[in-house]
Amino acid sequence: MKKILTILSVVLTACATGNPGEGDTGRIQIDLAERGHAVPESMYGIFFEEINHAGDGGLYAELIQNRGFEDSTVPEGYRLEGGELRPPALPNHLTGALPSPDMKLRWNTAEIPAWTLQQTAGSGASMYLNREYPLDPATPTALCVALPTQSRTTVTNSGYWGIHIEKGKNYRLVLYTSNIGRFKGDVTVRLISENGSELCSHRIDAGTGKAWKRHDATLTPTDSDSRARFVIELDGQGTLLLDYVSLFPQETFRNRENGLRRDVAETLEALHPAFIRWPGGGIVEGITLSNRVKWKETIGDPVKRPGQYNLWGYRSTYGFGYHEFLQFCEDIGADAMFVCNAGLGGQAAVGDACPEEELDLFIADALDAIDYALGDGTTDWSRRRVENGHPGPFPLKYVEIGNENWGPVYEKRYDRFYKAIKTKYPQLTIISTLGFGEQHRHEKVDLIDPHMYVSPEFFFEGARMFDGMERGQYGIYVGEYAVTQNVGDGNLLGALAEAAFLTGAERNCDLVRMTSYAPLLTHVDDRAWSPTLIQLDAHRITGRSSYYVQQLFAHNRPSYNVKNVFGQPSVSVEVRGRIALGGWNTDNEYRDLKITLADGRTVEADMSQGWKPQSGTWTTSDGSLKGSGPDVVRRNLWNTAEPFGDCTITLKARKTAGAEGFLVYFGMQDEQHGYVLNIGGWNNRSTAFQRVSDNDTPIIANYTAQQIETGRWYDIRIDIEGGHFTYYLDGKKSLEVYADTTRRFIATGYDDRTGELIVKFVNAAPDRFSATIDLAHVSNVERLGRVVTLSSQNPTDENSLDDPRKVFPVENCYDGFAEKFNYVFEPWSLTVLRIRTKIKQPFTPENNKTQQ
Ligand code: AHR
Repeated sequence: MKKILTILSVVLTACATGNPGEGDTGRIQIDLAERGHAVPESMYGIFFEEINHAGDGGLYAELIQNRGFEDSTVPEGYRLEGGELRPPALPNHLTGALPSPDMKLRWNTAEIPAWTLQQTAGSGASMYLNREYPLDPATPTALCVALPTQSRTTVTNSGYWGIHIEKGKNYRLVLYTSNIGRFKGDVTVRLISENGSELCSHRIDAGTGKAWKRHDATLTPTDSDSRARFVIELDGQGTLLLDYVSLFPQETFRNRENGLRRDVAETLEALHPAFIRWPGGGIVEGITLSNRVKWKETIGDPVKRPGQYNLWGYRSTYGFGYHEFLQFCEDIGADAMFVCNAGLGGQAAVGDACPEEELDLFIADALDAIDYALGDGTTDWSRRRVENGHPGPFPLKYVEIGNENWGPVYEKRYDRFYKAIKTKYPQLTIISTLGFGEQHRHEKVDLIDPHMYVSPEFFFEGARMFDGMERGQYGIYVGEYAVTQNVGDGNLLGALAEAAFLTGAERNCDLVRMTSYAPLLTHVDDRAWSPTLIQLDAHRITGRSSYYVQQLFAHNRPSYNVKNVFGQPSVSVEVRGRIALGGWNTDNEYRDLKITLADGRTVEADMSQGWKPQSGTWTTSDGSLKGSGPDVVRRNLWNTAEPFGDCTITLKARKTAGAEGFLVYFGMQDEQHGYVLNIGGWNNRSTAFQRVSDNDTPIIANYTAQQIETGRWYDIRIDIEGGHFTYYLDGKKSLEVYADTTRRFIATGYDDRTGELIVKFVNAAPDRFSATIDLAHVSNVERLGRVVTLSSQNPTDENSLDDPRKVFPVENCYDGFAEKFNYVFEPWSLTVLRIRTKIKQPFTPENNKTQQ
């Protein structure tokens, strides 16, 4: 048995007993002389978006919610109907369609969110919003507290579902008052614990005049509480206006003013992100253009920042703005990626577009943002940066044009942004939001940014998705990805699928240059999206298992890949079942369906009989089978006596109307189990094989860009061989995938900085996996090395604020590495082996010379 020394005192595990023959056995050969691509420093970054209170109530350290009383402001052009927010009826620039009448957005129906009034019975005191005497034109709303009779009245702020206060620490208060209504009496602010006891208090002199007066104070609570409240007490008579009520811990990340919550910023820093993408995500586009993020409104004095209602159902303060984002990047040594708007409102929402003649304004706005970050301090916007306290440039390295935009309007607009930015800033990397295979639609592309929110199967089966992908004049930045389906709130299974995907990305790092998981943060008391990488509440924070996967990959990024050959007991996938034809919201005709079996025999379908419609309306005429609505999914089963195994399917198909392309089902064991080739799916943009599995249809990666024209006959061919599917359209090979069920993945590389071989291994199976690891071209392999294991008993195990270390990496010192050794990988695990060794160069005439 190998000896294991525990480095982290927490856990001494029973792992790596080196018991050969236990569970499946495999062989991993790693040749250190077979050097692969350099793994770019940019490989692992993070994506920050104001979603689920990631900023306000999360990273941004402000403790008062709705500090400027702007939260109930209905966004420009929107309307409230029965407590629900409706977007304006603007046409989608691709389809011309108006937003569906059912489109409604999350809205907080509280009259003044996060604030409540407590009055003495019968005093007649009230609070209401007032827009007649703004503190600043950009933030027009103030809170009016009226005490018509002499009384004691309090207004209370709940914070972001509690205010976390620590005994003896200092908290900075800023508050504005306007004594517009001749209030006479005392004004006192207090922090009150959850059970009502006073933690500290401070008297304010509201003065006498109408002019706004700023009050600054430091509060030092006498006790700690995580669900404290902030109270303003008025004891007197008259009317007082309040605005910008702000409370910050004095200790913020790097102790910056208007700064960041320390524990949150440190949790992000601990990921060692190479870059940060900001500000979104969907909020870059807005629901409509009018409520996109406008970066110029996010800089300067926070009092004057208007904030904006966002796609995720609440108004953000813009407190964590462009400057704070750039500063955070600099503070943690990350490069900055700014995402600008391409003159397009959220295409997945309303999808309006600015008129073509206004596009220059959007391009100029993006150039101004770059100037703010990079200018020398003498230009318009870089001067503003200097005024805001940062004389030198910020580390801006990437600019993305839009978010999740596609279609001809975007394709051309991107070209204009690209030219304008590259002419002035050739050093910047420009990113397009088009997906795989679509990049040729631009004149020039540095990186494309496909997004993937998928099932575990997608990433397990898609760990190979980049292997055969075309290499060209562009790279890939997977800017948003996560397992979001069937993994609860983010469990170990999802994390292991993401790890599997990353082994493929790292192996293909000549093509995949950057990745960032999404979304990043959730305040558990108000979420619009799940899962995310990190959860928090007013005082706690925890990484989900996916967080540790990100951390392990970023901390164990090799300098370059080395080749491995991974042999394991093969699992053959048997595909056997019937064939069906269909369409998704699309009317299609099919004919000449023929099956060629593995032994060469052929079976031809009679399109007029032997069919069993499962949904939609089906007719036959002129040798064609025709499917139409009213069902969205149309499906007709070829009811053959026997199912088909490995075979080649050929047929002709024509779309006559509708949104997408063709559905060809095969290997259908029953209505709910089998496979489908979805041709021109996803709004007629892509083609992919999908597994039909109960009511789920995970994509079997890879997929390819493809559009189906109406009225044209296509020749379709699918080869099915042992779980290996190849698809041809009009005789041209379009897609090839493996329906692989073996869930073990490996990435190997060498770290020049430490002289270590790094092996990352995913065993997403219920059994231990024993492997012989054979190292070639090595010398001086040190027996003693490090092993980090992320695993848990059940793949469904999740971390939560109450159970933050259920799935947690354990680091051990391993005493058993050698040129050939055996290692047993834990069930449901990601394991990182760090083996110190020298590389023995193979004999070549060149090496021989240098060695002499
Ligand atoms: O990450 C959450 C959202 O998912 C992003 O805002 C958007 O880009 C994507 O659809």
